[in-house]
Amino acid sequence: MSKPFFITTAIDYTNGAPHIGHAYEKVLADVLARYHRLKGDDVFFLTGVDQHGQKVQQSAEKQGVEPQQFVDEITAKFVALWDKLDVQYTGWAATTDPLHKECVRANLQKLWDDKDPATGQSRWLYKKSQRGFYSVRQEQFLTDKERGPDGQFGPEWGVVEERDEENFYFRLTQDPATGLPGWDPKQWLLDFIAKRSAEENPFVVPDFRVAELRHAVEKLDGDLCISRPASRLKWGIPFPETFGAGFVTFVWFDALVNYITFVPGHDPNYAERMKDEGGRMKGSVEDGPPPSSSAAGPTSSSFASLWPPLHVIGKDILIPAHGVYWPVMLKALGFSDDEMPTLLVHGWWNIAGAKMSKSLGNVIDPDALADKYGAEALRYYLMSDIATGKDADFSEERLIQSYNAALANSLGNLLNRTLSMAGKYRVGKVRQSPVEEWGTPMPPAPSDAPDAVKHMPWHSGFDAPGGKVYPDDYSNSFNMAVTAYTGHMRDSAIQWALEQVVQRATSANQLVDTAAPWKLAKDQTERGKAQLDIVLYSLAESLRIIAILISPVLPRAAHGIFDQLQWKLDAAGHESRFRLADAQWGGLPDGHTLGQPTPLFPRIEAPAA
Ligand code: MSP
Repeated sequence: MSKPFFITTAIDYTNGAPHIGHAYEKVLADVLARYHRLKGDDVFFLTGVDQHGQKVQQSAEKQGVEPQQFVDEITAKFVALWDKLDVQYTGWAATTDPLHKECVRANLQKLWDDKDPATGQSRWLYKKSQRGFYSVRQEQFLTDKERGPDGQFGPEWGVVEERDEENFYFRLTQDPATGLPGWDPKQWLLDFIAKRSAEENPFVVPDFRVAELRHAVEKLDGDLCISRPASRLKWGIPFPETFGAGFVTFVWFDALVNYITFVPGHDPNYAERMKDEGGRMKGSVEDGPPPSSSAAGPTSSSFASLWPPLHVIGKDILIPAHGVYWPVMLKALGFSDDEMPTLLVHGWWNIAGAKMSKSLGNVIDPDALADKYGAEALRYYLMSDIATGKDADFSEERLIQSYNAALANSLGNLLNRTLSMAGKYRVGKVRQSPVEEWGTPMPPAPSDAPDAVKHMPWHSGFDAPGGKVYPDDYSNSFNMAVTAYTGHMRDSAIQWALEQVVQRATSANQLVDTAAPWKLAKDQTERGKAQLDIVLYSLAESLRIIAILISPVLPRAAHGIFDQLQWKLDAAGHESRFRLADAQWGGLPDGHTLGQPTPLFPRIEAPAA
């Protein structure tokens, strides 16, 4: 059996309600997960929330509530939004989950216990005191690099105070004095990035980001501070007692570990717990035997059956978090080069070229948009109007325009006219007309013809009222579109995959215009009847294949189309209804009866300017 597809997203900070950027990322991952299910893969799709940190602590204090209550309320908004947008994840990561706390602590302990025989010190973690200027807002020590031309720290750093603080550090570079951790993580990372690119399996996709990451690694100096004194940050995971009292984990050693904690099989009771918590465990990936300890490791067999994942993240958290800290952490924890993940880095939605921000008051609320236009209109817009990896400008106007053009006017219209004409001229029954009856076969391609020519349809077509109709060319273009679609989906270029589907709807509408079935219907000769049959069959087949291809992005519409085609009614409402293998021309049997049309994509009327 092939390896399941394991996909994760960034876990969202719970210091505010979800915005359009969060929604985009989760829908993108959902579409990829659904595409893999369409291909017949087992899928484990992990997403969740990042619940600790100073900002949460402060926001909760401001509201006069406990931080847990605060994050529970925000978390509920994320969960409700994913339900509304049909984001069908199979694993849920919440970093205040006791399971996660255990996992983070076990991993810290594992690195602490990995001692250098010569010095008796941990090869990976050390304690150091740092004196310097600290930005309270950005929660970090500042160096002279952060000073402006006037020698001052700019307003973006908020209050800056002098501090003397002891913390734990994780090695990203080799210590020139001790040689710890025993090899050079920075050099390993550079070699690893180069090796993955040479194997045509880049560590980061789209691969234009690889150079960006390589440059950042080349410039890397210094290690990662992974703790904060508990006196200052209360809302975090306490370090194990063996580290001495009074430290909590800071940001990345908590957040990144979620990708390990919530892999089924990591906790023997995980699947049971998820079922108890409302059936979020919807995947079909089976749990394996319990791991020997709660520390991460590529040893547990269920873990190994899933690992490594594809991490879907935004461009802002590639460098340094996912592109530097994460692979070095994994390496330190014992993961081999072959067990390193792949990072799918998406761009950002901006507003009129500017970053979305609370202070500018331009934050787009996906929940309100879904209520206004429907979840599918929003999913369609988010997947079609941005090139994966690049930034785009969010525009409600474009959402309306693209929905109306592609879905209401093109696909919706195709569905409506196909079913209406089939009902009117054939009481809904579509016939697979024998070739001899609708046109004149052409001689087969010569045996020495180039392959491309050999695979061309060899049928001359027929004269229809609006011009010549070539049914073989038409059906062949669908099979070619499926191949192109598959390639784009494999490259996570959802926008191009969707374009293939939309083009098929356009070409089906052109077929209607050229063939003019209302005129063909007046031709009572055997050939005329056969020609009408082939046109109606072609349109119904087009819709069947379009529904399959569009199902990862628009699952509800895909079901709607299948329902109206009266196709696979026994699997109505189930995702298994759609299979990529069925997206080949000729699936509807001769004599199949289509249903009645019901509008699927009502036009959105643009608000008056
Ligand atoms: N909690 C961290 C991630 C930890 S992952 C181990 C975080 N959270 S976040 O809420 O700020 O961002 C979550 C995701 O949303 C990130 O991948 C981020 O890139 C993405 N986006 C945030 N704003 C965005 C846009 N305006 N557009 C698209 N995605 C954006 O970072």
